[in-house]
Amino acid sequence: MRTLSGIQPSGALHLGNYFGALRQFVELQKEEGEALYFIANLHALTTTRDGEALSRNTAAIALDFLALGLDPQKSILFRQSDVPFHAELHWLLGTVTPLALLERGHSYKDKLARGFGADVGLFTYPVLMAADILLYRTDRVPVGKDQKQHLEIARDIATKFNLTYVPGYDPQDPEGRENKKHTKGILKLPEPFILDSTAVVPGTDGQKMSKSYGNAIDLFGTDKELKKQIMGIVTDSTPVEAPKDPDASNLFLLLKLFLSPSEIDVLAQSFRQGGTGYGAYKKQLLDAFHAAFDPARARRLELQKDMGEIEAILQDGAQRAEAIARPVIEEVRRAVGVTGR
Ligand code: ADP
Ligand code: TRP
Repeated sequence: MRTLSGIQPSGALHLGNYFGALRQFVELQKEEGEALYFIANLHALTTTRDGEALSRNTAAIALDFLALGLDPQKSILFRQSDVPFHAELHWLLGTVTPLALLERGHSYKDKLARGFGADVGLFTYPVLMAADILLYRTDRVPVGKDQKQHLEIARDIATKFNLTYVPGYDPQDPEGRENKKHTKGILKLPEPFILDSTAVVPGTDGQKMSKSYGNAIDLFGTDKELKKQIMGIVTDSTPVEAPKDPDASNLFLLLKLFLSPSEIDVLAQSFRQGGTGYGAYKKQLLDAFHAAFDPARARRLELQKDMGEIEAILQDGAQRAEAIARPVIEEVRRAVGVTGR
């Protein structure tokens, strides 16, 4: 079983990134098999046009990953751009990707709908993401729900590539197990790994939490920033003594992330009963946040003292990743005919 995921270094990590993705990365380390996690700095170029900021954010995300419990002995942690095969496979896959497939892409469509001109990078973003995944013959990809479409596109591209270059490939039998005449695909179809309970973490305004919506609760902000973000959670004007509907409250949904099932029941009861104001629940969330993340926050401060060590971990990760990717890219090159004799 091989697991792989990436996060863009496009800003500070928030609770949505943690519960939607990173927590799973850390949990899955306990299982058998191999795990690769990378910092998607090439993807971040579609939104960040400040080189200095991008390299600063890349180092910051590496620190975040390690502080939150990613263990470089168990998982391979690397920077996307350090393994040039990603960019190479992106091109090779692009030549078999129908335009229509990408025209359906959410991020591209959203940008057009908001009246911005999209550039080629944003348009082919899903092809690069497919390359990231397919390059390692990945079995499963832990992500939040917003990435589901990208996973489907990666599967479509893998199928198209296999159909084009693997004689005897049957999309109904991608592993070539059911019939002797079927050939196994060169590229493996990945499965998304999305937990229902944390598929979409709401932001302080009730929309999906996102770095770009100004509604995030950051994992590693200062105490002051954190307090401001949590106390700023938007609530309705129900008076303290009145009953409140837990299911309609983003504050409840956020608190839930930190609680056990029985604690969730108690909290829902308290909402329905009335008598507790939103301010008190916000305070509860702030305390829960500190209890959950203060150890990682302290660890990050320690790790930050030796950035040379962080760089060494990333370099080592890139070498290990490259060793896994090399036979795959070589097989792809042979299939499309771009190798010498
Ligand atoms: P953002 O939307 O803040 O830019 P990214 O797109 O960099 O976040 O997401 C990195 C990872 O975190 C992805 O796996 C994504 O699905 C997950 N993620 C981001 N926001 C949320 C959220 N609000 N709820 C659940 N998962 C999320
Ligand atoms: N597009 C993903 C995001 O914005 C990041 C990403 C890039 C990724 N390549 C990937 C995630 C490969 C999983 C697998 O969150």
